[in-house]
Amino acid sequence: MTAISHSGSSAGVTRQYAPYVQADWGFANHWYPALLSHELEDGSAKGVTIGGHDIALRRSAGKAYAVSDRCIHRGVKLSAKPMCLSEGTITCWYHGFTYGLEDGSLTTIVGNPDDSLIGKAGIRTYPVEEANGIIYVFVGEEDFGTPPPLANDLPAPVTNDPNDSPVPHLLDEGIVIRGIHRKLVGNWRLAAENGLDPGHLLVHWDNQILVALDRALPLGVNALTDSATEEIDIENGPKGVMNRYDRPDLYQPVLDNPKVNMKARGTVPHYFRTSLWVPGVLMVEHWPITDHVQYEFYVPIDDHHHEYWEVIATRARTDEEIAEFNFKYDNFMLPLALEGFNNSDVFAREATEEHYTRFDGWNNEMLCDMDYSIIAWRKMAARHPRGFFESPYLDED
Ligand code: FES
Repeated sequence: MTAISHSGSSAGVTRQYAPYVQADWGFANHWYPALLSHELEDGSAKGVTIGGHDIALRRSAGKAYAVSDRCIHRGVKLSAKPMCLSEGTITCWYHGFTYGLEDGSLTTIVGNPDDSLIGKAGIRTYPVEEANGIIYVFVGEEDFGTPPPLANDLPAPVTNDPNDSPVPHLLDEGIVIRGIHRKLVGNWRLAAENGLDPGHLLVHWDNQILVALDRALPLGVNALTDSATEEIDIENGPKGVMNRYDRPDLYQPVLDNPKVNMKARGTVPHYFRTSLWVPGVLMVEHWPITDHVQYEFYVPIDDHHHEYWEVIATRARTDEEIAEFNFKYDNFMLPLALEGFNNSDVFAREATEEHYTRFDGWNNEMLCDMDYSIIAWRKMAARHPRGFFESPYLDED
């Protein structure tokens, strides 16, 4: 493979993905997961922040709604003390401004139903879709227009290789999904890149799952051609890049580095494959076990925090299949994969944040050949910006 020159002064390469470097608050005008369905009970409300947008989610008569989480009266968060007095509305707990969930309009004020402001003001609403246990919200410019289909912002359900064993797509019927999400320190891009990074296997070399199952884990995976990372750019559909670890003509595992006396551990081969999709969704096929898929969303909260989503999906239609999945999830996948294996990734991201925050890491990084797929991802993400989140805070200068 010819060396890719991104080292030291990376201005030339950086220019090729400048919109990506600009997206420190994340890409606007996309669907993002906001809550797991079971976290929003009927008659309740909860607050989330996505790309600087404070959003209150409220379930009413079984349907999930999303509105701005800032009361127009004195600016408190509605979710700070959720007050749901009637179906189809959300009430501010402070002075009783009550908003309709469909259009955000001010429908009444608890203590002054004849107030002249009623019917003349309101809060913005956000499009919501709920599928297979996840509530998604379309976040961005208020006048963006009709949002693209949710499927456009999720990993593509198919690849172009007929020999692939297809894994469940997030919108498929007949699947079960379990997962967690947590707020972490770190820009969303650092998290996304870590998920795709072929060079980060070192952080997992002593992982419990791999040791217990004697799974073969190389020290790294080298690309054999400059185009080994597949770019998937579906017209009016998902955009992503894929590490084709299933293609020995494209990738070669590194099994030995005598200079540091390291050899790859494990003897049992395990096929898996990683891909990363705009606006920041990782798909790890056949992980943590075959016929399962782990999706990870790196949802920007602000420029230094992201919500880390980890969900595992598999096909299960009968009660027995669902029970078997739930047993494995509770006793294996959650503790050992999502909280065990992935905590090593969390540690790495949080350790990376300081450099990119305080030392302008985007212009002071020295990428190497091993970072081929990260470069491909940056270019892909830069090619399709629908918009950028911006800081909602007033300039303090
Ligand atoms: Fe919400 Fe006053 S701050 S009603």
